[in-house]
Amino acid sequence: MRVLVIGGGGREHVLVERLAKSPRVEQVICAPGNAGTDEVAENVAIDAGDNSPGGSRAAGLLDAFVQLASDRRVDLTVVGPEAPLCAGIVDRFQAAGLRIFGPTAAAARIEGDKAYAKKLMKLAHVPTAEARIFQRFIEAKAYVATRETGVVVKAAGLAAGKGVMVCPDSADALLALERFMVAREFGAAGETVVVEELLKGPELSVHALVDGQTIYVLESAQDHKAIGDGDTGPNTGGMGAYSPAPVATPEVLAVVERDILVPIVDALRNDGAPYRGVLYVGLMLTAGGPKALEFNCRFGDPETQVILTRLDSDLVDLLDAVVDGRLDEADVRWTSQASVCVVMASKGYPGKFESGKVIEGLDVAASLPGVQVFHSATKRIEHLTVSNGGRVLGVTALGDDIADAQRRAYAAVERIHFDNAYYRRDIASKAL
Ligand code: AMP
Ligand code: GLY
Repeated sequence: MRVLVIGGGGREHVLVERLAKSPRVEQVICAPGNAGTDEVAENVAIDAGDNSPGGSRAAGLLDAFVQLASDRRVDLTVVGPEAPLCAGIVDRFQAAGLRIFGPTAAAARIEGDKAYAKKLMKLAHVPTAEARIFQRFIEAKAYVATRETGVVVKAAGLAAGKGVMVCPDSADALLALERFMVAREFGAAGETVVVEELLKGPELSVHALVDGQTIYVLESAQDHKAIGDGDTGPNTGGMGAYSPAPVATPEVLAVVERDILVPIVDALRNDGAPYRGVLYVGLMLTAGGPKALEFNCRFGDPETQVILTRLDSDLVDLLDAVVDGRLDEADVRWTSQASVCVVMASKGYPGKFESGKVIEGLDVAASLPGVQVFHSATKRIEHLTVSNGGRVLGVTALGDDIADAQRRAYAAVERIHFDNAYYRRDIASKAL
């Protein structure tokens, strides 16, 4: 069969790799892809609009993707980023009779509209932070002024992972409200804000495959969102990840499935938006039990790099089972090895960053035992591979345990060079 992957980051590179490994797959196409996907797939230059807040750019591109999939007789399309999902790519493909993995626009609202997600969580009695939703700056400002404890201010729409500000006091909260609602840093995405209780505890990401009815929880992963060592500095899309996460005990995962995943999937179905695809829930493991911070309608990046490198089954079989609504029959196997991914980023990220730096040492790094280097933002210029975005590479290694995988991943990072490359030195240390 022929498979199309939409997107051009590290998540898409690992998806392409795993799909190409399937004996059932003859060809993988990736749009737009990067220099890494180019080695295993055919890249087609249609930009998925990964980072366009609100997905407005993505909306205009849906026709191009439908055209590509029908012209090339694609049997299955897998969508990486949230923008095309929220813009309705799945609805469009289904209307054209094309098979696609991912939720419809109505179901993707669980990520694209944080105010909707909060309302649905309340309705379904899903444990989450107490929250208020505001559309008027005056009212939001008056509310945060009365709060004596910290709050978290979130732009309700898509903001490429940057629309959340943790505010220890009301002065910070006021500043966040001004940035979102007055200066409109994220445009329409910040017209509505969610102001919620600041929760404390270790964080955990749980990914589950959902076929409308059946839920299958994937192996656990832990992201590192802050730019700096020791979780300091501003949030990023994710600076590294490891799997499995020791905090994700079987007991914790059972509670997450029973109290969070099952009720939210039921609530979506009851709301006329049955969920198909991968559902990602970001959690805080509070003293009062796991609480949902957010839902994403797609695979996490870089979580997917560590989850899928541990998958021992055929990824196509698994995605097919979701699309066809027979996930209950799927046979899923995992390696007992651990996986660690260290993101190498451009100087300046998550702010304004440098690009176009020549990357060296990729082959040497990839030849080390257990190592795979996934490209996040690279392009080829003649025989050179150059950086082309904020997060450039996801250097990933399998090992006997987290410590072993961590050692291998950092050994590979040391073999790779580009000017002013930045990476955290403590990825996975909190799992040791
Ligand atoms: P989100 O995109 O909603 O997952 O938020 C991004 C990050 O902000 C999370 O990974 C947390 O570190 C932090 N965060 C979000 N909501 C809360 C909350 N209610 N309490 C404390 N931290 C939060
Ligand atoms: N790594 C966080 C995300 O994919 O949302």
